[in-house]
Amino acid sequence: MRRLSALLAAAPLLLTLPALADGDAAAGQKVFTTKCKVCHTVDASGKNGVGPGLNGVFGRKAGSKEGFAYSPAMKSAGVTWDTDTIKAYVTDPKNMVAGNKMAFVGIKNPAELENLIAYLKDATK
Ligand code: HEC
Repeated sequence: MRRLSALLAAAPLLLTLPALADGDAAAGQKVFTTKCKVCHTVDASGKNGVGPGLNGVFGRKAGSKEGFAYSPAMKSAGVTWDTDTIKAYVTDPKNMVAGNKMAFVGIKNPAELENLIAYLKDATK
């Protein structure tokens, strides 16, 4: 019973946990700088490099950024980028979109991924 009341007391706190569980954008920026920046921009310029500019990527259809020469695989991936699809793609690009041309091995560390997503959400708005 004591346990239960302790749990109940903690309930409001638990409800706010998803916000706390969100990644650390500052740490995510470091991940982006070391692992993505050679190929991608995030700012409003939307400039394409080796990879497509990622500004506005959340909610965008895969392979749809104007002026970028996507692989046929990416153009026909039928994916809309959101937290889950970007995570899946960045974890294992070759597996998520077979035949795509992003030469990146993937990030397997969940915390690193969370942080990266937190940064991307903010930086690509
Ligand atoms: C070596 C260059 C390179 C690196 C490093 C790289 N990317 Fe990419 N990325 C690409 C290319 C090229 C594509 C387009 C793939 C295609 O057309 O098949 C792409 C596509 C993407 C897309 C799909 C965008 C769209 O418009 O559909 C996302 C999202 C993405 N990359 C995120 C990342 C993230 C996050 C990182 C770092 C963890 C990263 N990439 C690292 C080259 C790279």
